[in-house]
This record gives sequence, C-alpha cells and structure tokens, in this order.
Amino acid sequence: MTTRETASALSFAGDTVLITGTARGIGRACAVRFAERGATVVGGDRLDQSETVGACAELTGDFEPVDADVTDPAAVAALVEHAADTGRIDVVVNVAGIVAREPIETHDGEPWARSMDVNLTAPFRIVREAAPHLRETSGTIVNVSSIYGQIGAAERAGYASTKAGLDGLTRALAAELGTDGVRANAVAPGFIETPMTAPYAEDDAARERFRGLAALDRLGEPTEVASVVTFLAGDAASFVTGETVLVDGGRATVE
Ligand code: NAI
Repeated sequence: MTTRETASALSFAGDTVLITGTARGIGRACAVRFAERGATVVGGDRLDQSETVGACAELTGDFEPVDADVTDPAAVAALVEHAADTGRIDVVVNVAGIVAREPIETHDGEPWARSMDVNLTAPFRIVREAAPHLRETSGTIVNVSSIYGQIGAAERAGYASTKAGLDGLTRALAAELGTDGVRANAVAPGFIETPMTAPYAEDDAARERFRGLAALDRLGEPTEVASVVTFLAGDAASFVTGETVLVDGGRATVE
C-alpha cells in the first residue's frame, strides 16, 4: 500500500485495485467507490461492463474492464496479469458470486458445484495468483461474504457453505500473509438491493419480510457495502485483519 498521511487514508491514488463481479450490483459500486478515490480499477466479469465504464468515466481514477469468467483458471491468470501490468497490485476485492436456492434433497450438481466454483474456489485462485504482487505492496484483500455464512438459511446449503468457507479462507490468508503486511478481511452483507436480489425486492411480501428483519427497518444499498469495503482495504483499517464485518442493518445480531 502506498505510504500516505493519515488525513489521506481514504485515498487510493496511485494504487491498482483488482475487483471481480464489476458489471453490476455490489461489484460496480465498489469499482465506482475506488475510482472516486483515485485508484486504477481493473474489473473482471463475464457480463458486459459498459455501464460500469460509464459510471467511472468522470471520476479521478480509471476503470479497465476485463472479460473474465472467474471459474476459468486461464481467465483468472489473465485478469491478474492485466492488473499486474499496471506495475503493482494493491488491493484485491472478490465480489463475483451466485446464489442458488434448492431443497437439500435435490441440492446437487449445479447449485452445489457451481456455488463452490464461483463463490469459493475463484477467490482462492485469484488470491493465489495475486499473492506475490500483494506481498510486494503490503496490499489488502477484501472478500464479499454474506450473513448466510454465519446464520442459517433454508434451501441455501451451497451458498451458506461457500460463504462460511470464504470467511475461513479470509482468516487463513490473514494468518499467512500478515508477516508481509498484507491484510485480509471480509464483509458479510445482509439484504442489499441488486440484480441478484431483485426477485425478492420486487415481491411486496418478500420485501416487507426482509425489511423487517433488519434493525434499521430497511434494505441496504450497494454503496453501503462499498463504503465498508474501501474502509477495510485502506489505511484507515491498518490494524484490522482476519475480520468479517457484518453490513446487514442489524439483522444477524439484533432481535
Ligand atoms: P449480482 O448478481 O447483482 O452481481 C454479481 C456479479 O458477479 C455479476 O456482475 C455477475 O456477472 C458476476 N459473476 C457471477 N459469476 C461470475 C463468474 N463466473 N465470472 C465472472 N463474474 C461473475 O450480485 P450482488 O448482489 O451484487 O452480489 C455481489 C456479491 O455480494 C456476491 O458474492 C453475493 O453473494 C454477495 N452478497 C450479496 C447480497 C445481496 O443481498 N445482494 C447479500 C450478501 C452477499
């Protein structure tokens, strides 16, 4: 991480930030937030990223879209290489994720294996490729987990398992990379309004139910996750590592 004064601890000017899942939702909000703060953001997604390019166009930093399916090891290697070609990698943010809902009796094949590939194996592979670069910069890792890594949710065996696994991966990375000054943390969002959750947000009964589960009595916005991601990635959180921060409006901890 570039050395800087405390007053500019929220600046990422001169830093390269690699983010996955930047085509929409929380990933796009993270790209915008880092670019606002001066970073060169390299964003990998399998979907078209032109809206994210547009959202970052007027900002201080840059956004460079890369076509990448994070379950493809060759694409992951190319994505990390693209970021490293800027001369450094300071931050890696694993956002790309999928959710599948399926009863346990039929919860095989697609929901289980695909969830593992996208939500857990891909972040592992990305960090494995990026680790040498992160050690050089004493960089930071932020993984986007979920409250479902900590609280149970029916019919989400694969999703919940991958997110609990991601929390474990985060702690292991903090332990292994800490001596080189690399910090690894996670955020665990509650209900955030994105294309992923649109089917629930657009259903009045479901929307009311999820709203009522949060102490703040509302759903969350992608920018509210991005703010915590940038906090954890930057010098303002310089003594925080191995932590998973709930960003859930008080859903998992408050009755
Ligand atoms: P979203 O579905 O709106 O966006 C996910 C992005 O990841 C998309 O741009 C998609 O193309 C990309 N992606 C998925 N699979 C990919 C692959 N194989 N290769 C490359 N890109 C891929 O989802 P949202 O809501 O923005 O979620 C982002 C992350 O936040 C996910 O990891 C999700 O599990 C997590 N999360 C979201 C919550 C919510 O309420 N929206 C709650 C808790 C966690």
